[in-house]
Amino acid sequence: MLTIKIKNKKVKILNLIILILLMCLVFYAIGSLIFLIPIFNKKYTNKINTDNYSINTKTSFKNAWFNCYTNEEFKIASKDKAFLTYLEKELESDGFKKNKDKLIRRKKELGFCGNRKKEYEKVHSKTYATYKLNGSNNIKLNYNDEYKEDYVTFKINNKISNDVTINSNLNIKKIGEYIISYKLKLYNNYNVFLLRKVSIVDNEKPEINLLGENEITIDFGSNYKEFGYSATDNYDGDITDKVIVKNKVDTKKPGTYKISYKVTDTSGNTFVTYRIVNVRDKTNSVNIINPNIQVIDGITYVDGVLVVNKKYGLPKDYDPKVNKEALKSLKLMQADAKALNLDLSLISGYRSYSTQEELYNKYVSIDGEEKANTYSAKPGFSEHQTGLSFDVGRVDSSFANTDAAKWLEENAYIYGFIIRYPKDKTDITGYIYEPWHIRYLGKSLAKKVWDSKLTLEEYLNILLIFSTGT
Ligand code: DAL
Ligand code: ZN
Repeated sequence: MLTIKIKNKKVKILNLIILILLMCLVFYAIGSLIFLIPIFNKKYTNKINTDNYSINTKTSFKNAWFNCYTNEEFKIASKDKAFLTYLEKELESDGFKKNKDKLIRRKKELGFCGNRKKEYEKVHSKTYATYKLNGSNNIKLNYNDEYKEDYVTFKINNKISNDVTINSNLNIKKIGEYIISYKLKLYNNYNVFLLRKVSIVDNEKPEINLLGENEITIDFGSNYKEFGYSATDNYDGDITDKVIVKNKVDTKKPGTYKISYKVTDTSGNTFVTYRIVNVRDKTNSVNIINPNIQVIDGITYVDGVLVVNKKYGLPKDYDPKVNKEALKSLKLMQADAKALNLDLSLISGYRSYSTQEELYNKYVSIDGEEKANTYSAKPGFSEHQTGLSFDVGRVDSSFANTDAAKWLEENAYIYGFIIRYPKDKTDITGYIYEPWHIRYLGKSLAKKVWDSKLTLEEYLNILLIFSTGT
């Protein structure tokens, strides 16, 4: 057609140009199609999670084992003990020996990962997966806190997949670092591992419980006897043996001293507490520095005061009956208490050796010897055998909270009595707090002991003798 209409040379050249342009168009269309396929497919490739520790792609191509970490991730992970342990275990399960060099070699193998990914993309280009660890990949929990599993979001071709295997040795009852692994099954042997690190920590401080008062006053020249302490930790349990005591009390120098008690648990949490010790000056000291201990007919007198405790007992046949002076004073006190509507009825007074024996044996049969010894004296070691002691009100720990007990505590000395086994003095007296048990000392001495806020043992300075003898 063209040759008929246009016969000159120019027209022929134009024809040729048009033909070439047409051919180019055809080639361009074919070429574009070829390029478009991979562009189109690229959309369907894996989205790699960029969380630290989270890219861990395991394939079983030719039985090889590949961890596809980025260099940056491996750098972080290889500094992490828990993570290394995890890796070592995986390597071991793949037949590698526990050896750090293997891990380093593994790092070198990272180069393969790029190829591995490409291979995967080639094989499974029609499948695409998105996956993400929900929540943090690095969790810190306090010991015994609850761990809440946030799971993962895992989709294959936009559909939620539940083909996730969670592996974890997390133990919230044990301080340490744990790795929780989530194995996501992408396709046949092609899995992706997402990892979450959980650290169980203990931030709670231990506690120290001081036995005896937090503030005490002792006499010039007396012996300071440590009342004791116990330390417990929410994680370590009893850590009393870890307590460091700094005691600079010098009873030859009157003044106020601070004894410090410090304890640190295995997680490094420290607790410190103090006991204040006031050392009286010479003139105000009422204590007897060197007590005069006399044993007459088997009865012990410390500076003239009859003493019965776990160290000093009485002869079996010592049978003085109730002390008349003490009884008279008791009746006076009971009457005054009654006028205030307070009941200090006599529960138990003088007890012979054999009565105490019966009582003690009964308590042992009920509670066992160890427990019975905390509230009952052995026969021959009860103050009740002196006729100078009484149990009043109610022999029950609930008596401590009554108005009668409070009144007794504050006023007994006026009538010549002391509470013989005070609160928090068990380590000194050897007995539990007995707010009902009073001992007659006579008005003058009872007031001195009351004013000193000491037990009879402390007041008479027979603490060491007593404590070494029990
Ligand atoms: N309850 C006191 C200690 C006694 O049995 O003498
Ligand atoms: Zn008693």
